[in-house]
Amino acid sequence: MAEGWLNWGLSTRCVHAGTVEDTVAGGVNTPIFASSAFRVPGPTGRVVYPRYQNIPGQVAVAQKIAALENAQAGIVVASGMAAISSVFLAFCQTGDHVILHRDLYGGTLGLARKELPRRGIDITWVDAFHVEDFEAAFRPQTRLIYVETPSNPLMNILDLETLAQMARSRGVLTVVDNTFATPINQNPLDLGIDIVVHSGTKYLNGHSDLCCGAVVGAASLLEAITPVISLYGPSLSPYDCFLLERGLKTLALRMARHNHNAMAVAAYLAQDPRVARVYYPGLSEHPHHHIAARQMRGFGGMLSFEPKGNTKTAHRVMERFHFFQPAVSLGGVESLACFPVETSHASVPPLQREQMGIRDTLIRLSVGIEDTEDLLKDVDQALEAVL
Ligand SMILES: Cc1ncc(COP(=O)(O)O)c(C=O)c1O
Repeated sequence: MAEGWLNWGLSTRCVHAGTVEDTVAGGVNTPIFASSAFRVPGPTGRVVYPRYQNIPGQVAVAQKIAALENAQAGIVVASGMAAISSVFLAFCQTGDHVILHRDLYGGTLGLARKELPRRGIDITWVDAFHVEDFEAAFRPQTRLIYVETPSNPLMNILDLETLAQMARSRGVLTVVDNTFATPINQNPLDLGIDIVVHSGTKYLNGHSDLCCGAVVGAASLLEAITPVISLYGPSLSPYDCFLLERGLKTLALRMARHNHNAMAVAAYLAQDPRVARVYYPGLSEHPHHHIAARQMRGFGGMLSFEPKGNTKTAHRVMERFHFFQPAVSLGGVESLACFPVETSHASVPPLQREQMGIRDTLIRLSVGIEDTEDLLKDVDQALEAVL
C-alpha cells in the first residue's frame, strides 16, 4: 500500500492508508500484533522491537498519519511531549541556538525553559505574530524554529510559508505543532515546513481515551529522530496503536463537524453583548483571519472567549455549562471547557501570561461533535444565568 495513497483524498487516507493486511483471517483491520519479541531473522531481515518503532501496529498508524500530512515518513510515540522532546533531542546540542514562538502549549514552554538551557542550548523567544519579527532572531548557531499555529489558547496564526522560506534560506529547520489544526485542516509540510509534531492524544485519536504523539517529515529527518526514541524509549504499545488507528479512521468526518460547531459557537459569542472577546481564526474580525484563510482548509474546533465581568463571573459561567465539561485536554468528540490560567498555562508566571494576553477570565472551549443547537443553547443558558 506504500505511497498508493498519493492519489487518494484525505477521508480515504483516514480509512485505508497504512493498513496492514490480515493474512490469517482476512479481517479488514490491522491486526493487533501483541508481541514484544519477534523472531530473527524476521520477514524484513531487520530486528523488530517496539522501542525501535518498527512493530506492525506502529508502522501502520505512522504511515496513516504521514499520508495525511503528505510526509515521506512518520513515527508514533507515547505522548505529544515525547514527540516534541525527541525533536529537540535529535537536532539540538550544546552551543546551538533555537528560536521559539512565545505562544506555545505550557508543557512545551516548560520543556524549553527547564531542559534546553541545562543542555547548553540558547533560546530566543519571539512574541509577535508578524513573521518578519523572526528575522532579527537568527544567529549563525540557529538550528531550528519551533511554532504552533493556531496557538494555544489565543488561536493566533503564523504565516507558515513565509516562515519556512526565511528559515530554509538560512539552513534552519522549521518545526510546527499541528495538534490544533490537524492534517485535515492544515498541512505545514506543503507550505515548506520541515517537521510536524502532534499530540495524538487530541484530535488524531479523538475519543479522550489515549495518550500518544507523532512526528512526520522527510525520511532523512525521521532517521535522525528514531535512534533518539530507541534510546529514551517512549514507544507506543500495540494496543494503543490499534486505538489510534481506529480513531484516525473518522478524523476527516469528525473535523468537519468540529469545524462547523466551533464556527457556529464563535459566531454566536461574537455577536453576544455579554461577551468581551472571542478568539477564533474563522471569524473575519480575527486579526490573522486572512492568513488562516490562506493556509487552512477549516478553522478547527478550538476557540477561546472572555465573558464580561471579573474572574468570579467567568467561574460562574463555567459552573453553569452543561455539555461543556470542565476538563483538561481537548480534541475529543465531547465538548470541554477550561481556564488556561489553571490548566495548560498554570506553570507560566503570571506576568508572562499577562504579556501573552492570557487573562484570568479567558475560557477555552474544545467544541465537540454534539448537535450544534444543543451547544449554542448551552452557551446561551450559561451566560444568561450569570450576566
Ligand atoms: C498543542 C499541544 N501540543 C502538545 C501537547 C502535549 O501533548 P501530550 O499531552 O499528548 O503529551 C498538548 C497537550 O495538551 C497540546 O495542547
